[in-house]
Amino acid sequence: MFKVQWKIILMITVHQINAVRAQIKTWQRLEQTIAFVPTMGNLHNGHLELVKQAHQYGQKVVASIFVNPMQFGPSEDFLTYPSTLETDQQILEQVGTDLLFAPNADTIYPYGQIVQTRVEVPELSDILCGASRPGHFVGVATVVCKLLNIVQPDVAIFGEKDFQQLLIISRMVEDLNLPVEIVGIPTVREADGLAMSSRNSYLTADERNKAPNLYKILQVAAQNLGQGISKVQIEEQARLALIAAGFKPNYVSIRHAMDLTEAGPDDGDLIILAAAYLGKARLIDNIRVYVTSQ
Ligand code: PAJ
Repeated sequence: MFKVQWKIILMITVHQINAVRAQIKTWQRLEQTIAFVPTMGNLHNGHLELVKQAHQYGQKVVASIFVNPMQFGPSEDFLTYPSTLETDQQILEQVGTDLLFAPNADTIYPYGQIVQTRVEVPELSDILCGASRPGHFVGVATVVCKLLNIVQPDVAIFGEKDFQQLLIISRMVEDLNLPVEIVGIPTVREADGLAMSSRNSYLTADERNKAPNLYKILQVAAQNLGQGISKVQIEEQARLALIAAGFKPNYVSIRHAMDLTEAGPDDGDLIILAAAYLGKARLIDNIRVYVTSQ
């Protein structure tokens, strides 16, 4: 007796731009809408939440995995960034991804990065994380612009954990009139409050125990807003609390949530953003605060 084993392949993985375009064209001819989730892989539940939510925005869900060299500084972790393609493929398939685009650097930058046409969103890219990571957001905007042009989705989904990135991409899409809707998804956290991140794997056991303090300190800062304490004082208290908890803070900043400009005394739609090193890991987090009266 023959035993026939059927394996239904639900998700297609492609590495070439032509293959993505051919599949997208087929779906577009069938008038199927497309939602897109770009990632750098080493997927965790934060990424997966984006993919799950994507089903609400498109009939077909496309994800990409590309560790983009252009957004890493020379002394950053490009070479050691965790790569787990096979596991990522399995979990993407489990959450119903239809197509995975996993190009290599030569496919995205065939002439090399130096001569690549760049996309820059001025001002927004130079503050906060952009000030500590020069060139980072040019790398992000350039690769996201290219990926949007390759995939041509109706909707693209990004996490609010990288709030500055989300605003920069939204501004780029508006400025360049790209025909795509950008959707932001709330930060997915571990049970102890730590924002999920591929870089959490750099933490030692001791650092992992300390890491949730970043969000706890932001929560205290959020509670202090609107209580008669100045924003500068709240920022400084949070910075000192981070140092006391074993972090090396990059910044703690209270900003206007719509455009990340300095928050004025009467601004009610605020966001507190922080970036800090804990050992080798550079962690970022933020908390949105609506203040009705100050
Ligand atoms: P990556 O860090 O892999 O993140 C991919 C997407 O997942 C981003 O939109 C990010 O904001 C979102 N994300 C990460 N952690 C999250 C969490 N805990 N909760 C919710 N969303 C989360 O961000 C990038 O890759 C790259 O810069 C990229 C946009 C792919 C361009 O290279």
